[in-house]
Amino acid sequence: MSKRTIVTMPGDGIGKVVLDESLRVLEAVGFDADYVHADIGWEFWCREGNPLPQRTLDLLSEHGIGLFGAITSKPKSNAAAELCPELKGKDLVYYSPIVGLRQHFDLQLCIRPCRTFPGNPLNFIRRGPGGTVEEPKVDVVIFRQNTEGLYAGVEWSNPSPDVRKMLETHPKMAKFKDVPSEDLAISTRIFTRPACEYILRKAFEYADKFGYKSVTVCEKPNVIRETSGMMLAMGQEIAKEFPHIALWDTNIDAQMMWLTKNPEDYGVIVAGNMFGDIVSDGFAGLVGGLGFANSANIGETCAVFEPTHGSAPKYAEYPTSIVNPIAMILTAAMMCDSLDETEKADRIRKAIGAVIQEGKVRTYDMLKLKGSPDVIDQGAASTQQMTDAIIERI
Ligand code: NAI
Ligand code: MG
Repeated sequence: MSKRTIVTMPGDGIGKVVLDESLRVLEAVGFDADYVHADIGWEFWCREGNPLPQRTLDLLSEHGIGLFGAITSKPKSNAAAELCPELKGKDLVYYSPIVGLRQHFDLQLCIRPCRTFPGNPLNFIRRGPGGTVEEPKVDVVIFRQNTEGLYAGVEWSNPSPDVRKMLETHPKMAKFKDVPSEDLAISTRIFTRPACEYILRKAFEYADKFGYKSVTVCEKPNVIRETSGMMLAMGQEIAKEFPHIALWDTNIDAQMMWLTKNPEDYGVIVAGNMFGDIVSDGFAGLVGGLGFANSANIGETCAVFEPTHGSAPKYAEYPTSIVNPIAMILTAAMMCDSLDETEKADRIRKAIGAVIQEGKVRTYDMLKLKGSPDVIDQGAASTQQMTDAIIERI
């Protein structure tokens, strides 16, 4: 049998640090694969005018599975200013390469598990009756539609007369009739029925497979009637095929308020692109935040696994790295799951759980310290020490 090949894309900043750590853990657990490096990120924007070079897309097309660290994005004006001199003035436009990957390979499913590790000092706690303190166990998996909605990029500043004319076919545009085009910015929110159906079906199948009791559609159908309405109506259709799983629906705003009230009640949550981004960050905050948040971007022919955090540039140059590698290591475990290496994935998660529970090795975020090179002197573990502790448990 030929070995599988994983396309590794460290990207920028701490992406380069944590990705290597996850590879050490994969090796320790006996995960057998070849790895091929692929270029992505700011360096390639500055040097080549493209943060997502064609050669990287080719490698992903060939191998179908990517492990991604993080990239740096900067505002439009910085992007243009940092291009190498030969590329300046050529009207090159910067687009986020991770958003580009999702679009190029139609990675329409984004899965973001948010699970409490007992003993994590960052776990959410709340007051219970009679002055008690409760630490609800969160076990939520967010299914975020990854390619449509507000992130599809169908938007305009200073829209052309054609765009205005098209929009004015809607009676509610009358309100904006007298606004000059240069004072208008428009971002569309487009949902399609097949994409809604796809994500909802995957969410129900996941709930079924892993024993979750409910699937919650988290949108805003009372106000955003067309798009959120389509998602909810489709949820009601698909739910009929899974009578043993409850369909709940919540509005994104209320959901964020309830986040701390009853997070333990939710199982699988489905949302469009923007609300999925919001609600997954919300739940991640209850289980440790960016040092723990992991995700998978899944399409029919390709999957890319990534921690939710960015490149944290201010920490990238520290002589001893202080960032928490757990998000990236959990990401690698998700990749194992998707390759039917569940036993290895579980061993990784168990080892992480044991290190957290024991509490001897904690990165600066887990000690609630402000990030600085001194945190090591204050008792924080370095990135490498955290990985070592996890590997020792394995
Ligand atoms: P960030 O996630 O890079 O960092 C925010 C803060 O979170 C850091 O300053 C640090 O305090 C903490 N943090 C992040 N990862 C951590 C870890 N593993 N362990 C401990 N603490 C951690 O987000 P920020 O500062 O908004 O963006 C920095 C750059 O990253 C920007 O250029 C942004 O565009 C990019 N970015 C890239 C993403 C991606 O590659 N998917 C996602 C988010 C931001
Ligand atoms: Mg986000």
